[in-house]
Amino acid sequence: MIRSVILGCGGYLPEKIVANDELAKRIDTSDEWIVKRTGIRQRHIAAPDEKTSDLALAAARAALADAKTEAGDIDAIIVATATPDNTFPATATRVQAELGLIKGFALDVQAVCSGFVYALAIADNFIRLGQIKKALVIGAETFSRILDWNDRGTCVLFGDGAGAVVLGAAEGKGDKTDRGILSTHLHSDGRHYNLLYTEGGPGSTGKPGFVKMEGQEVFRHAVAHLSEVVDEALAANDLKPEEIDWLVPHQANQRIIDGTAKKLNLPPDRVVLTIAEHANTSAASIPLALAAAAKDGRLKKGQIVLLDAMGGGFTWAAAVIRW
Ligand code: ACO
Repeated sequence: MIRSVILGCGGYLPEKIVANDELAKRIDTSDEWIVKRTGIRQRHIAAPDEKTSDLALAAARAALADAKTEAGDIDAIIVATATPDNTFPATATRVQAELGLIKGFALDVQAVCSGFVYALAIADNFIRLGQIKKALVIGAETFSRILDWNDRGTCVLFGDGAGAVVLGAAEGKGDKTDRGILSTHLHSDGRHYNLLYTEGGPGSTGKPGFVKMEGQEVFRHAVAHLSEVVDEALAANDLKPEEIDWLVPHQANQRIIDGTAKKLNLPPDRVVLTIAEHANTSAASIPLALAAAAKDGRLKKGQIVLLDAMGGGFTWAAAVIRW
């Protein structure tokens, strides 16, 4: 059986950092409120001339270097983003061109904060079907471009960044001892479209609408759906919660993450957290967290890594990986 193994990870964060105190000078909020309700202390903000594709490209290059893979070996580039450079073409095609690639295919996936797990699932299916051998899966966002900086209920929550992984085909036995992606689980329920949305078109270079959110409703659904999808992912692999070595969750709110960790009975030192430094970078948050934990040696070969995410739509998803 063919499996998709993560060969390397990379991340990129824009240079500019905006701390909570700085936001408190512009809007009616405080560091204390933001930290207590969300766990966020600061966020990175893209420079005016930095587009989503620039962030994606930097993360892709870092992942390729980590995987010791030449760009020319990549058969597919999938960029998960809700903030593409333009409505079309796909941001992924710009990354493809910048990497000097003229073979294979490049496409964007739009599932907001669940986008990276969706993109991972798509690439994994192409690899397991034998249609491609290597893929670059990227989550990249410039949410700062679609925030109403006067709306304290949303603007304090998000940041910009990008993360990427290189996936490669490997032989497996077809059981949970295999290395690589063991399963992916995708869900959506469009009835909740209006609880988390933008009131305009996409684009980090165009004129996008601003993020609108019913925070408490999103919170409530996130806790319920993440709990369900984590159960589903464990059951699909006949895994017990104690067999999970690392939870690498979408970083939207520390309280949501704590809820999932508590349900799994996972101690805090087995949860990869970046929310304090990165805030919510939507589709970029999981690959950024993977890159951080891979780089500092926390993620070790053979360990079980659980990813979970929830975003606008609603969309929600999980993946189980043996590192
Ligand atoms: N600073 C100070 N006060 C604030 C702020 C702020 N930044 N934002 C809201 N408040 C106020 C509200 O106005 C309200 O005041 P009131 O009581 O006088 O009316 C009070 O704080 C409480 O507001 P709530 O919205 O009830 O606060 P809550 O505890 O629900 O926290 C939060 C808000 C942090 C947004 C929370 O609901 C949450 O995290 N929800 C999930 C959000 C999320 O995960 N979004 C991303 C999903 S992924 C994606 O697809 C993008």
